[in-house]
Amino acid sequence: MSRKPIIAGNWKMNKKVHEANELIRELIPLVEETTVECVFCPPYIDLIEAVHLTKDTPIEIGAQNMHWEDHGAFTGEIAGDMLKDIGVKFVIIGHSERRQYNNETDEDVNKKAKKALELDMTPIVCCGETLEQREQGKAQEVVVGQVKKDLANIDDVTKVVVAYEPIWAIGTGKTATNEQADEACGWVRETVREMYGPDAAEKIRIQYGGSVKPDNIVELMAEPNIDGALVGGASLTKDFSDIVNYDKKK
Ligand code: PGA
Repeated sequence: MSRKPIIAGNWKMNKKVHEANELIRELIPLVEETTVECVFCPPYIDLIEAVHLTKDTPIEIGAQNMHWEDHGAFTGEIAGDMLKDIGVKFVIIGHSERRQYNNETDEDVNKKAKKALELDMTPIVCCGETLEQREQGKAQEVVVGQVKKDLANIDDVTKVVVAYEPIWAIGTGKTATNEQADEACGWVRETVREMYGPDAAEKIRIQYGGSVKPDNIVELMAEPNIDGALVGGASLTKDFSDIVNYDKKK
């Protein structure tokens, strides 16, 4: 069975509203022939305009985080329900930067992922080990442990996208080798198989993230367990279209 590739840009805390508009307008004609699922995840304040600008294009819009409650006294938070209301279809959950700087736990990630699914949005659930953990030979244990908790008790896990992002490769220019990336995406797939069976494991889409660029996307996408990419730095310019159009390179 073939899984539709999904390439998402995580803009992180970059691009004011007018800058986001400019980049989206620049990218629309460049990715209009895309055969992959193409998602832009700008900061919250850019989302309304981003949804509006990408209407009737193949681009979908995602947020970078959400709260699992629909409303309430949670100062500074944005509810998944609010995102859905403005037409956001995807949401990155449990990015390592949020785990590190905002103390997000696997339990939080699990609640957010379930809520996103309940709202019919696609959660992009992130996992990945630190350099220290990899050097200690604990990468597999860490990734499997995260996936088990993050994806616990989910009704239809095939609607989740998992992004394997080794922390040592994020924003460092140091991409995992294709073999390392594929191996770890394989750990994720195997864990899904143990939790939800072979059919779910075959269908779930797993992205690699960490210094993905136009020069390494083709080889990463050729790996059997890698179904897409979550791209940070290289999603901030029009060169992102070279990543999205990786399959059109001669
Ligand atoms: P990077 O970020 O592509 O800049 O390494 C990836 C991510 O954090 O999602």
